[in-house]
Amino acid sequence: MFHLTILCSLLSLFLLPPANLAAVSDDEFLKLPLLRKSPLPSPTQALALDTRRLHFLSLRRKPIPFVKSPVVSGASSGSGQYFVDLRIGQPPQSLHLIADTGSDLVWVKCSACRNCSLHSPATVFFPRHSSTFSPTHCYDPLCRLVPEPVRAPKCNHTRIHSTCHYEYAYADGSLTSGLFATETTTLKTSSGREAYLKSVAFGCGFRISGQSVSGASFNGAHGVMGLGRGPISFASQLGRRFGNKFSYCLMDYTLSPPPTSYLIIGDGDGGVRSKLLFTPLLTNPFSPTFYYIRLKSVSVNGVKLRIHPSVWEIDGSGNGGTVVDSGTTLAFLADPAYRLVIATVKRRIRLPIAAEMTPGFDLCVNVSGVSKPEKFMPRLKFEFAGGAVFVPPPRNYFIETEENVQCLAIQSVNPKVGFSVMGNLMQQGFVFEFDRDRSRLGFSRRGCALP
Ligand SMILES: *[C@@H]1O[C@H](CO)[C@@H](O)[C@H](O)[C@H]1NC(C)=O
Ligand SMILES: *[C@@H]1O[C@H](CO)[C@@H](O)[C@H](O)[C@H]1NC(C)=O
Ligand SMILES: *[C@@H]1O[C@H](CO)[C@@H](O)[C@H](O)[C@H]1NC(C)=O
Repeated sequence: MFHLTILCSLLSLFLLPPANLAAVSDDEFLKLPLLRKSPLPSPTQALALDTRRLHFLSLRRKPIPFVKSPVVSGASSGSGQYFVDLRIGQPPQSLHLIADTGSDLVWVKCSACRNCSLHSPATVFFPRHSSTFSPTHCYDPLCRLVPEPVRAPKCNHTRIHSTCHYEYAYADGSLTSGLFATETTTLKTSSGREAYLKSVAFGCGFRISGQSVSGASFNGAHGVMGLGRGPISFASQLGRRFGNKFSYCLMDYTLSPPPTSYLIIGDGDGGVRSKLLFTPLLTNPFSPTFYYIRLKSVSVNGVKLRIHPSVWEIDGSGNGGTVVDSGTTLAFLADPAYRLVIATVKRRIRLPIAAEMTPGFDLCVNVSGVSKPEKFMPRLKFEFAGGAVFVPPPRNYFIETEENVQCLAIQSVNPKVGFSVMGNLMQQGFVFEFDRDRSRLGFSRRGCALP
């Protein structure tokens, strides 16, 4: 953690002098529309992708040095992602990024073309078309914040054009690599004005491989906006200027027409804030990217399940605990808790169990001929440290897997090698505020669907 302190302060010196931000007044915040581009591909596909992501995480058992850790992102899953538009460069080029609280790096696909008019616009970033693109030197302390390629050229202090190369790995072995650089980004503030943020560090990806960051599963994205806790994430880089907090509200993807969600960087709307419930954010030195919270109990129809508190703990080797992740679709619960939840929900549900379970799911019900199935589903209640109680509606944990079949969208995870996850389905319809200075997570059912 020694590294962490040093590098964070280095980063704030190099990246965030207040002068870097033009024309934003103190009471303003940034407001970026979040879009769900397509509905979940299929629940079984979402499950396969989520499981792959978590399986990879569970393999990481030994301590990983802070700065060069392999990183994992929701970008690996392509399922049920939320997208955000980022305008980058001068003049601005508009690109579509996946918003991901489970990774740190901000990166975009780059093209080194000389005559870029041959390329279709707005699918990659053209550094040559920007007057503000600035590659980082490999000797710059910033360069130590990104993982370097296995066969990186040796950094030569004496050569001026010795650039910083990065290589970022995803859950299934997919990679993005290229130059670590800085750029000006243009964002809308709450008052509708444009803010220019200079020297935002990002990866200019020239080599992209693997199915999770290319092809259909990347869902047409041009990169990833990492919002994790590490120093290079978008949230960290903009943090100091905007009260070191961000919030979002993920709207129900089944609604039609799809409502607009927002990613807010800064203090947001005071009216909503006053209604938030809070729970402390915990840190796990083994996984410094993730936002951990402490789950204390789960209730079904108001009856608290008898789960030993140790089931929820982060153990001495960094396993266990509960993570809030916008890049995972389903929810995952530590196995002893999971088994009790399944058994209790099964006993309490007033709908016929489906004749056949959808592969990958342990509890599916037949909703054929039932007009409001949620009325017959048990209510789950999650109690977090600090007494905050989270009561999601059944549509946050039951999903339609086939016609007239709905399954409990919760999966089991072994807490000795993995951790519990509140995925984006479970978060739908709530405002979540990541207050990093005060190290707490706020949430509220109000202020998301309501104007
Ligand atoms: C770039 O390509 C276009 C289309 O082929 C061509 O018309 C133009 O002259 C080229 N420009 C340069 C500078 O090569
Ligand atoms: C660094 O670059 C200089 C000038 O190009 C060259 O003379 C020197 O040998 C290089 N050093 C290493 C270690 O490659
Ligand atoms: C659901 O119930 C209907 C009517 O009772 C039945 O025809 C159908 O086969 C059932 N489907 C499943 C998957 O259980």
